Amino acid sequence: MEFPSLRDHNLEGKRILLRVDINSPIDPLSMEILDDLRIRGHLPTLQALEKSKVAIMAHQSRPGLEDFTTLEKHARRIEELSGRKVKYVDDVFGAAAREEISKLKDGEILVMENVRFCSEEVSDEVTSKPPVEQAKTNFVRKLASYVEFFVNDAFAVSHRSQPSVVAFPTVLPSCAGLLMEKEVANLSRVIESTERPKVFSFGGTKAGDSISVIKSLLDRGIADAVLTSGLVANIFLAARGVEIGAENMETLAKKKLDGQISKARELLEKHGERIVLPMDLAFQGDEGREEAPLADLPNRKALDIGVETIAQYSKVVREARVVVANGPCGVFESAPFALGTEELVRSIAQSKAFSVIGGGHLSAIAGSLKVAKSVSYISTGGKATLSFLAGEKLPGIEALQESQRR
Ligand code: 3PG
Repeated sequence: MEFPSLRDHNLEGKRILLRVDINSPIDPLSMEILDDLRIRGHLPTLQALEKSKVAIMAHQSRPGLEDFTTLEKHARRIEELSGRKVKYVDDVFGAAAREEISKLKDGEILVMENVRFCSEEVSDEVTSKPPVEQAKTNFVRKLASYVEFFVNDAFAVSHRSQPSVVAFPTVLPSCAGLLMEKEVANLSRVIESTERPKVFSFGGTKAGDSISVIKSLLDRGIADAVLTSGLVANIFLAARGVEIGAENMETLAKKKLDGQISKARELLEKHGERIVLPMDLAFQGDEGREEAPLADLPNRKALDIGVETIAQYSKVVREARVVVANGPCGVFESAPFALGTEELVRSIAQSKAFSVIGGGHLSAIAGSLKVAKSVSYISTGGKATLSFLAGEKLPGIEALQESQRR
């Protein structure tokens, strides 16, 4: 995939608008940042821009959610991690932000307020328009006139068509940052590698998105085996006619995932031999973790895959040459039910395959098990990673490619 790179530009002394994705898990009580994986991901780009004047633009969460908050703490964390002085301005594109941008000296970094505080960034009326139209917003016009160059390092939000992601490349010389490049290179390697078998594991709660990716990977002949767990497994089990119990069916209905069962059924008919379903599941019993085989599932919420399944999945992962995992296998936050997810991450770390894990949960587990260094690549993307793997066009990347053609 071709797009302009930071390596091709000398940005020394230039005033840069840098879009990053530092959207992080936040403790709802203290509002402290719980995991700084995404912030650390941008350090190489900041290092590469050490002789530029850098104004950082980023978001945290979405309007209406409880972790929708200011970026002041993110700015402090960037300062700690980069070891450089970082200024913060509580303004997105108003006079205060523009004045701070114009005062920047070479080597200085400014973090501006959460870009989603700006209504033009999030209004459907704006985001439904093409990038050139989005560039006519006040927000883009005002900021663009204060900088000389746009660097997009925010792979994790590149699936969004929002002004901060897609509009600046239409009005400023632009390129991808080093994290953006690394994400695209590693995820492209997954898709393009000729090494087989290629194994994908999908769990977690974004089951609707996962089913679309699974369909695409199977239809395009990319996946040799898809290991299913969590809600994704429940959907496939229900599609195969396994009695998963009223409680698990209700959970699917509550999460509006029951409509996915017919899609899963079609996938099983077409690609059944490549879709691997659990053989047993784990539940909360009177004495703690209890397990049951598929033929004898209790009417209780499934909280993890069982040990037979864990052994089978580990074997498939060990034999893989390329392995990708997205989403935990169960309710890993509760120690007895972390077993499946931990064993999956351990077997990925032990495998000789080119391995990629995506989503914050698996990377946090790899960190706590101290095996993160044995995973070939940890993607900072959530939905963006899934969309990339599904072969979808990402507006943020398209905008960079388009800017190269102009
Ligand atoms: C993410 O967390 O996946 C990205 O930061 C994008 O966030 P969004 O889904 O709120 O656009």
